[in-house]
Order: sequence, then C-alpha cells, then structure tokens
Amino acid sequence: MAINRQVLLAKRPSGPVTPDCFALRDAAVPAPGPGQVLVRNLFLSCDPYMRGRMAAGSGGYASGFALGEPVPARVVGQVLASRDGGFVPGDYVWGFMRWEHYSLVADAATLYRIDPSLGPVSHAISVLGMPGRTAEVGMLELGRPRAGDTVFVSAASGAVGQIAGQLAKAAGARVIGSAGSDAKVRHVVDVLGFDDAFNYRTVASPGEALDRLCPDGIDVYFDNVGGATLDAVLARLRPFARIPVCGMISQYDGQGAGIRNLAAVVGARATMTGFIIYDHMDGFEAFPARMAERMRRGEVRYFEDIVDGIENTPAAFIGMMAGDNLGKRLVRVAEA
Ligand SMILES: NC(=O)c1ccc[n+]([C@@H]2O[C@H](COP(=O)([O-])OP(=O)(O)OC[C@H]3O[C@@H](n4cnc5c(N)ncnc54)[C@H](OP(=O)(O)O)[C@@H]3O)[C@@H](O)[C@H]2O)c1
Repeated sequence: MAINRQVLLAKRPSGPVTPDCFALRDAAVPAPGPGQVLVRNLFLSCDPYMRGRMAAGSGGYASGFALGEPVPARVVGQVLASRDGGFVPGDYVWGFMRWEHYSLVADAATLYRIDPSLGPVSHAISVLGMPGRTAEVGMLELGRPRAGDTVFVSAASGAVGQIAGQLAKAAGARVIGSAGSDAKVRHVVDVLGFDDAFNYRTVASPGEALDRLCPDGIDVYFDNVGGATLDAVLARLRPFARIPVCGMISQYDGQGAGIRNLAAVVGARATMTGFIIYDHMDGFEAFPARMAERMRRGEVRYFEDIVDGIENTPAAFIGMMAGDNLGKRLVRVAEA
C-alpha cells in the first residue's frame, strides 16, 4: 500500500536553517472527497522566500508556516484521482501544495493545468512559472534595459538571476553577473552568455570588481542579494539608474547590513523599486507560452538543479540557501 511520506516543519529556524528544523512522517494517502483532487507529486520547489515563512513571527510579506505540518511549497504533480469536473487522472498540474508524496487539494481552483508541449513539466515552477515571471517583471518592466546600458545581476546563476541576465542581453545591454563560485562564474559567462562575471567570495570587494567590470557605472542593478553588494552598486550608479529590488538573500538569516551609500540615489536620480511577484500575476496565463517562445528563439537557456528523493528535501533547501545549487533547485520525488 502506498505511503504518503511528508517533510514537516519541526522547529523554527533562528539564523541559518538546520536539519533539525525538519522531520519526516509517513502518513496514509488521503482519498479525495467531493470537489477534491488527489495529486501524485513529482517536483517540489525550494525557494528562498520559504526561509522567512519558516521563521516565527515572520515580518515578511507572507504569513508563517505551521509547525508540525508538511512544508507548503509550489509543487508539480500528476492528478491521481479527481472528484472535480475540471481535472482527470493523468493531468499534469502545479499549485501550492506541500513537501510530500501525495497532496489532497481541497479547492481545485488553486490547481493549474500544465501544457507539457511547452517543455519539461518541472518548468511550470521554474522558467515558465514564478521565477521566470519574477525575472521578467523585475528586468523588463522595472529595470527597462536599453541597448548600450550596463546591467548588473547578483545571484546570477540562480533560478531568477539566470533569466534576468539573459533578458537584459536580449535587450542589447552589456550584462555583468556575480555568483558564489568560480564554476558558477564560468557558467554564467560561457553558457548563459553574460559579458563578464565575478565570484563575490574571492574578489577583494564587490566595489573593486565592479570598478573593473563596469568602469563607466551601472544603469540597471537587479538585486537578489542586498548587503555589501548593493552598497557597492549604490556608489557606482549612472544617471537615472534603475534598481529592481527582487530580494536580499544575504540578509535572510537575520544579518543586518549597514548601507552607507544610499545618498547616491539623489545625485543619480535613481529609482529603487521593491517588488513582489504576487502583485504581478494578472495575465499570467499568457506567460508560459511567451517565455517558451523566448527559449525556442534561443534568447533564454534554463538550468535546473534537481535533487532526488523526498528525504533529501531538507538538505536540498539548506544547500540552496548556502549556494550549492547551479540553477533552480527542485526535488524530484517521483518519475513523471
Ligand atoms: N520579489 C519576488 O517576488 C521574488 C520572487 C522570487 C525570488 N525572489 C528573490 O530572488 C533572489 C534569488 O532567488 P532564487 O529563487 O533565484 O534563488 P537562487 O538564486 O536559485 O538560490 C539562492 C542563491 O542565493 C545565493 N546566496 C546565498 N547566500 C548569499 C549571500 N550571502 N550573498 C550573496 N548570494 C547569496 C546563492 O548563490 P551564490 O553561490 O551565487 O552565492 C544561492 O544559490 C532571492 O533573494 C529571492 O528571495 C524574489
């Protein structure tokens, strides 16, 4: 008989997330009631925002996860049984489900059908889903790169950063990235086509690297990390620079960051815009085909970093927060 293995939030993190924040539980596979759908999960997402929701009394933009319950997350799966007229067994779907093998979806309106002709089904929660749309909104709608601009993207090899940089390249900009290992730096330049990149862990300082790679300053900074990197960028803005503030992962474990160069936004007449992707989901239905077309044209290549086995989900998440992922971190819990 099938067992529903689940990953529970066992303890709230303070500082970096540790393995004891999670526990495994084997539960019975639920049966769908009227209007419900049972999904056999295939891919579980690991996203940085989940760190904030695991913590108690999160001051973030979304409420905290319940202790002792499976961790909520975006998931791709296949309908196993359905008592909702909109879905039949075999349909590929994504939705907010949980880190577990089987999810019972009480409200079928929260499930979204995946068009498998657009690419691998995992793409529904990576390049053709939330991270992809985040890069599109941040770079194209807020960053607005133009031919000749110098664009800088931090966490450049990650789920969002790899797309943000390629969108700016397609717009004709010169694109520089930063990442946390030499292998990531090589990937960003040699495979993703960035013009140059640096390893922020080994350079003397982000400012030294930016002076070398962006000698005339920065027109667009797609901020994924905050902290010292953001501070260095602020001191190197070109007039009318745009800074879409997507995230500040260097501060998610509670580290404060002393920003000393904020006054530079005045002289540069710069715009810093924080954004949350949930505010930009109107018309999302058209997004997967639009991004798939960019991939077909060769403007965007996409890399996922897939870990196998539900019991490895805690380590996959903890590793992603520390930078061991090259591309979008997913956990495969069953074969499609
Ligand atoms: N605003 C929104 O709606 C929205 C939506 C999605 C994501 N985001 C944000 O976008 C950013 C990237 O998310 P993602 O999903 O694409 O994750 P990701 O880049 O695939 O993975 C996280 C990466 O962050 C980097 N990192 C970790 N600690 C760091 C530090 N102290 N300094 C610099 N970099 C560090 C690591 O790469 P390195 O090896 O390069 O350090 C790690 O691989 C996050 O800040 C996330 O919160 C925002």
